[in-house]
Amino acid sequence: MLVVKTKQKNTDRSHPSLQAKNSPRIKGHHTRSSIDQSLRKANLQMVDTTNLFSFFSLLSCILFTIFLIKWVFNNVTGNHKNLPPSPLKLPVLGNLLQLGLYPHRSLQTLAQRHGSLMLLHLGSAPTLVVSSADAAREIMTTHYLIFSNRPDSENARKLLYNYRDLSLSPYGEYWRKMRSICVLQLLSAKRVQSFRFIREEETFSLVKKVEEGCAGSSPIDLGQLFASLTTDIICRAAFGRKYSEGGSGKKFKELLEEFGALLGVFNIADFVPWLAWINNFNNLNARVEKVFKEFDKFLEEILDDHMKRGGEDTKEAEKDFVNVLLENSKNGSEDVSIGRDSIKTLILDMFAAGSDTTYTALEWTMTELLGHQEVMKTAQEEIRSICGNRPTVREEDLEKILYLKAIIKESMRLHLPFHCYFRENQERTSECRVTTFWREQE
Ligand code: HEM
Repeated sequence: MLVVKTKQKNTDRSHPSLQAKNSPRIKGHHTRSSIDQSLRKANLQMVDTTNLFSFFSLLSCILFTIFLIKWVFNNVTGNHKNLPPSPLKLPVLGNLLQLGLYPHRSLQTLAQRHGSLMLLHLGSAPTLVVSSADAAREIMTTHYLIFSNRPDSENARKLLYNYRDLSLSPYGEYWRKMRSICVLQLLSAKRVQSFRFIREEETFSLVKKVEEGCAGSSPIDLGQLFASLTTDIICRAAFGRKYSEGGSGKKFKELLEEFGALLGVFNIADFVPWLAWINNFNNLNARVEKVFKEFDKFLEEILDDHMKRGGEDTKEAEKDFVNVLLENSKNGSEDVSIGRDSIKTLILDMFAAGSDTTYTALEWTMTELLGHQEVMKTAQEEIRSICGNRPTVREEDLEKILYLKAIIKESMRLHLPFHCYFRENQERTSECRVTTFWREQE
């Protein structure tokens, strides 16, 4: 009652728009008592709304307090499950903001503070960061089965045909089949040797471009040349021809760049799944869809073209990846079928895994050599002593060029083309004891 009264007073002073919204429509022929009744009804509704508002405020306060206590408890008191140390984290985002623009560097700094085994929370994903060789070896060997999967990624799932590829497909029969095709057929020593003429021709063409560039006055973009070299070599090995010239070449290059960028771009849906809707507004979903469709069309045409030509008469040494994979799709076993999607996505794996790793390694090696002229001079003398007056280096010479090999190894040690390996614990419930961690703690 008291509340109703208070509300009555308030109604008189309330904003006209509120009155109009809450009061029933008063028509001309209504009596005084019916108007009073209507007003009383309206006041009761407003009291209900206010009560509801108070109730929700109270509920929010309680929830917030529980949330705060849980956060403080988790962050300050740690845990009772012998988990590795964790830096302080924010609600919802966890440690995501601590990754910064260069996650590998931020992770290194955090590891120096918290140890070579630390637990981060990337959004809702508890993530173990392993930063010592011993602990990494243990995870990748002793606990290989537990950590054999790669984490799920929205963009990769779409671009790689729901993981019909090798690098991200879940550990199991299909993965084993794809891996055996890759190791025994596509990247076997014999097949790699059969592509030798491609590597030699393309390297010769790169050296020619550098010579022509040196004769002119404009600077040479070695990074671009290395990127084209690796893409051309993979294209010729995979499709039997390259796609770097003319308008279609430019389009293919852009498509490949966007594909690589989308595989590496930060996607909030991977860490805070309920925020996935954001990708409808920041253009990410549209970009992924566009690249997927364009690549699919491009690869479908290549498959059709190979099927029309028929690979049966092609000599073993002249077969490209598509020929080999089409043969596998015909001879596939019943339980593991290699369909068109598997072929397309395995080819995409080759581009994703083989191109930027290789040209990044080449670019860093060249950068280091330019900064260490003495080392560059020694390397040049070594090559001249082995190749004599020949203008090109042959593949059999490589075994003798030991100093250059050491330079490449050192450059890859300093500048890894691959900063982080990602693994997912496939038995989420199983406990795993990383003994290196305990040894380090002693
Ligand atoms: C400097 C050059 C390269 C480096 C540093 C490199 C490095 C790596 C690493 C570290 C992995 C393992 C990733 C993981 O387990 O998460 C990997 C996997 C792979 N690489 Fe390379 N790679 C290079 C060149 C190539 C080339 C030229 C190709 C093929 C054309 C290739 C094809 C693959 C494939 C298919 C996988 C996946 C294998 C699997 O998941 O079992 N890589 N590479």
